[in-house]
Amino acid sequence: MVQIVHLNGQFLPLEEARVPVLDRGFIFGDGVYEVIPVYSRHPFRLQDHLTRLQHSLDGIRLANPHSDTEWAVLVGELVARNEGEDQYVYLHITRGVAKRDHAFPKDTPPTVFMMSNPLLPPDPALRQNGVAAVTAADNRWLRCDIKAISLLPNVLLRQQAVDAGTAETVMLRDGFLSEGSASNIFVVKNGVLLAPPKGPLMLPGITYDVVIELAAANSIVFHVEPVPESTLRSADEIWLTSSTKEILPVTHLDSQAVGSGLPGPLYRKLDQLYQDYKATIMRQPGL
Ligand code: PDD
Repeated sequence: MVQIVHLNGQFLPLEEARVPVLDRGFIFGDGVYEVIPVYSRHPFRLQDHLTRLQHSLDGIRLANPHSDTEWAVLVGELVARNEGEDQYVYLHITRGVAKRDHAFPKDTPPTVFMMSNPLLPPDPALRQNGVAAVTAADNRWLRCDIKAISLLPNVLLRQQAVDAGTAETVMLRDGFLSEGSASNIFVVKNGVLLAPPKGPLMLPGITYDVVIELAAANSIVFHVEPVPESTLRSADEIWLTSSTKEILPVTHLDSQAVGSGLPGPLYRKLDQLYQDYKATIMRQPGL
C-alpha cells in the first residue's frame, strides 16, 4: 500500500509530496513538530499533543493553522488512509516559503506536513533486559520546551550514544539531569520515583505526564524535583520515556550497571500499569 501524507490541505502519496527549497523549515529549521502514537487506530492523548503543539507554536510566534477539531479530523483521515493498526503520526509546521531573511516574512502561509508510519512496540528484549545509555553535557538552547524541528544538537547528542553502541544520551546541565536526546528520564532512588520538573530546559513529555499520573493513582511515591548528577549516578533504576519507545529501563549508564544491572521492580510495576492504561485507551470508541 502506498504511504499517504498530508501537505497543505491535500492528501497525496509520499513520493509526490514536494516542498520548495526556500521553505523556512529547510533554510532555518524554522518550525515545530509533534509525534503522536496511535494504537488500534486511536490517537493516544491527542488533546495533550495538540495542547503542546499550541505551546510550541506560541513559543515561535506562529499562528496555529488549524483548530484542535480540524487537527483531529486530519489525524483521523491520515490514520485511516495508511496501513497498520498501530501508527505514529508526525505533524510538522514551518513558517512557510519566503526569500531568505532571518526576520519573519509577512503574509506567508505556513507549510503543514503530516505523515504516519507503522508503530512497532519496543522489542520485548529491551523491556526485559534494559538498554545502555551514555551521558553528555546538555549543550542545547534555553527553550527546550519548544518541540522545534531544528534538532541538530539532539541529532549530534544521539549519535554519541550510537557511536558508543548504546540506545540514548542522557543529558546533564549545570550538574542536574535534564532529559534524553529524544526522551524524558526518570530515576528511582531508595524506592522513590524522581522526575526533573518541567520548565524551559526540557520537553514536557506526554509519556512523562502519563507516568506521573499512573504513579499518583497507584500510591507510588514520587517527587518532581531537580535530580543532581550524583543521584543519577547512584540511582537504583533509570527509565527513559517517549511516545515511540514507551517506558524503557536504562540498565547501564556510561558502562556502569544501574542498580543490579537489570530492570528494577518499580520499572516492572509502572510498565505494567502503562500497558494496562494503553489497553483501556484502545478500547474507547472513536477518536
Ligand atoms: N521525541 N524529550 C525530547 C527531547 C524528545 O524529543 C521527546 C520525544 C521526549 C518525549 O516526549 P513524548 O513522551 O511526548 O514523546 C522528550 C519524539 C518521539 C521524536 O522526536 O521522535
